[in-house]
Amino acid sequence: MKLIILGASAGGGFPQWNCNCRNCAGLRDGSVRAKPRTQSSICVSADDGRDWALLNASPDILQQIKATPELQPNRALRDTGIGGILLVDGQIDHATGLFMLREQKSKMPLWCAEPVYEDLTTGNPVLRVLEHYCGVEHHDLPLDGSAFNMPKVAGLEFSVLPLSSKAAPYSPHREASVDGDNVGVSITDKCSGRKLFYAPGLGARTAEVHARMVEADCVMVDGTFWTDDEMIVAGLSTKTARDIGHLPQSGPGGMMDWLDELPKHVRKILIHINNTNPILDENSPQRAELTRRSIEVAEDGTRITI
Ligand code: MLT
Ligand code: MN
Ligand code: ZN
Repeated sequence: MKLIILGASAGGGFPQWNCNCRNCAGLRDGSVRAKPRTQSSICVSADDGRDWALLNASPDILQQIKATPELQPNRALRDTGIGGILLVDGQIDHATGLFMLREQKSKMPLWCAEPVYEDLTTGNPVLRVLEHYCGVEHHDLPLDGSAFNMPKVAGLEFSVLPLSSKAAPYSPHREASVDGDNVGVSITDKCSGRKLFYAPGLGARTAEVHARMVEADCVMVDGTFWTDDEMIVAGLSTKTARDIGHLPQSGPGGMMDWLDELPKHVRKILIHINNTNPILDENSPQRAELTRRSIEVAEDGTRITI
C-alpha cells in the first residue's frame, strides 16, 4: 500500500494565520526549528499507485493536490487520481475541501457516516451546496465494521470503527456524541495483506481501537496535543484536549503509553498536530522523547510504503 501525507496539521494549519504562539511565531521568525504543515488529510492507494482514496478533504486541498503529481495523472482533458473520498468526521478541517473539488462531470464519490452526512446537509450544508455543482454520490459508512470497497480505488479494502471523540462545534450532537460522529479507518491492501489504521481524531482509549491497532502494520493516530491543558496554559482556550475529543500524548493513560504497548513491528506516526504542540519543534525535549519511543511525527509530502 502507498500512502502520501497531504496535510499533517490539525485545524488552522501551522503556522496558523492569526497565531503568535511560540511555535507559530518561532516558525515565522526562524527561532524555532520546525516545518510548516497544511491541514489534516492523507491519500492511499494499492502498490501500483494508480487510483487513490482521499481521507478527508482539507481547506488546503488545492495546494496539496498541486504538490502531489500522483493525484494529477493527466489521462483525459479533465482528470483526477482521486477515486473516492472518505471523511472521518464533519469538522471544518476535514470537510470544507469538498467545495474545492466541485468542477467534476460525474458525482463526487463520498463515504461518510450517517451523523456526518446529517451535519453536512443541515448545520454545515456543504453537500447540499455541492448539488448545484458536481453533486455527491453518498455511501454510508457501515459502523458494524463490515468491509467495503471504493469501486474506483482498486486493490484496497476499508472498514471503520466508531470512536470516542467529538462532532464539529456546529453539530447538534457536539456535547452528546453519537456513533459515527468520528471514525477510525482500517485499510487493507488486498494483495499484500498489509494494513493501516488511521484515526486523526481519537479521544479515548478503548479495547476495540486497541485491537485495530495491534493488527495493523502502521498506525497513524491523533497527535493534536502534547498535554491535556495545552490550550488553557497557552491562554488560547478554556477547554482541555479531552474536552474537544483529543487524547493528549503525555500523562498517565496518554497516547505515548498506549503506543508503547503495540508490537515492535508496528510503525507509529502522530498526525493532525495542533500548532501549539511542542513536538513540532524539532529541538524540543518532547520531540526527543517521541524519538526515543520510536514514534514519528507526520510531515506534509512524506510518502510511505506499508
Ligand atoms: C479538531 O479536530 O478539533 C479540529 O481540528 C477543530 C477545527 O477544525 O477547528
Ligand atoms: Mn480536526
Ligand atoms: Zn500557534
